[in-house]
Amino acid sequence: MISNEQKQELGKIAAEMRNLSYIPYSHYAVGAALLTKSGKIFTGCNIENAAFPVTICAERTAIFKAISEGEKEFEAIAIATEDGQGYPCGSCRQVMVEFSLDMEVMLADAEGKITADLNISELLPGAFTPDKLH
Ligand code: THU
Repeated sequence: MISNEQKQELGKIAAEMRNLSYIPYSHYAVGAALLTKSGKIFTGCNIENAAFPVTICAERTAIFKAISEGEKEFEAIAIATEDGQGYPCGSCRQVMVEFSLDMEVMLADAEGKITADLNISELLPGAFTPDKLH
């Protein structure tokens, strides 16, 4: 469980990250702030590409940055969009459950205000998880 102060901080950081989005095609800015179980925050933004499928979402940018720094256990992520209604795409949900089956997923608006607060298990019920392959 994270505190309300931590939630607000993550929402604000995610909202600020929207300024770094590379979005010449969609003009849809998404920012993310990921809190690890060890207490570190990793940030991300969406990065588009002229070859559209190569685009990476803000959430996966943050998660992959964390993984590449040796962090694999996540407490919560805040995802900021203009209206605060930008739910994570299916690919990002799948990447979340790969590492943290119970992480908190918050949405935030352009000012960083938290607009939704859910658990990844609600967003991807019946997920295909790593334990199936063990
Ligand atoms: N996008 C994200 O960053 N996260 C999501 O979960 C959904 C979509 C980005 C990708 C692309 O740059 C833009 O939003 C429009 O799809």
